[in-house]
Amino acid sequence: MSLAVYPGSFDPLTLGHVDIAARATTLFDVVVIGIAHNAAKAERHLLDVHERLRLARDSTSHLPGVEVDIVPGLLADYCSRRGASAIIKGLRNGSDLDTELPMALLNRDLGAPETVFLPASAAYAHISSSLVKDVAGYGRDVSALVPPAVAHALEVRLAQAPGSAAHDGVDSGPVPPGTPPSRFVGADHTREDLP
Ligand code: PNS
Repeated sequence: MSLAVYPGSFDPLTLGHVDIAARATTLFDVVVIGIAHNAAKAERHLLDVHERLRLARDSTSHLPGVEVDIVPGLLADYCSRRGASAIIKGLRNGSDLDTELPMALLNRDLGAPETVFLPASAAYAHISSSLVKDVAGYGRDVSALVPPAVAHALEVRLAQAPGSAAHDGVDSGPVPPGTPPSRFVGADHTREDLP
């Protein structure tokens, strides 16, 4: 049985992520969506890891061969524990490749299996978790970009965020630098959650 790990922050999972996971199952018997820790983003997560796990499970339950798990430490160690024969990453553009290539090489140095890059489907190549959070933060419908359960969770989460545009109905514009995560994060389009 072949198993591949598809790691990321998935904050939140998008339709692009689901598409990559589904397509990866044509190459591997089991594809584990691994919710992993990205030190660079740890302070800025909108959804906690258990919520991300729940949403990823809910959104991929129709896909045989896809599992969801938390990657608690180094990805390389997790791959070794699970007997993974590959890491899956989605690529939307050259800038994704620039970010991913060093990680693939470092992971290999750390004893991880080879990284297999899958090109994003054209329909999803513009979607990132950061942009989803940005648009949702202004109270707009993101159901064309994320699975239904994620759209609902974002709506609920942002309605709870004091001062968010979705909360107070005021277009308060982009989030100013230094705004705490409880208000809202993601207005800056960083390299968030590869497809
Ligand atoms: O979706 P992201 O945030 O771009 O994914 C990055 C992620 C989570 C896959 C990466 O930060 C990672 O693998 N984290 C686990 C810890 C680890 O192994 N770090 C070394 C990576 S070379």
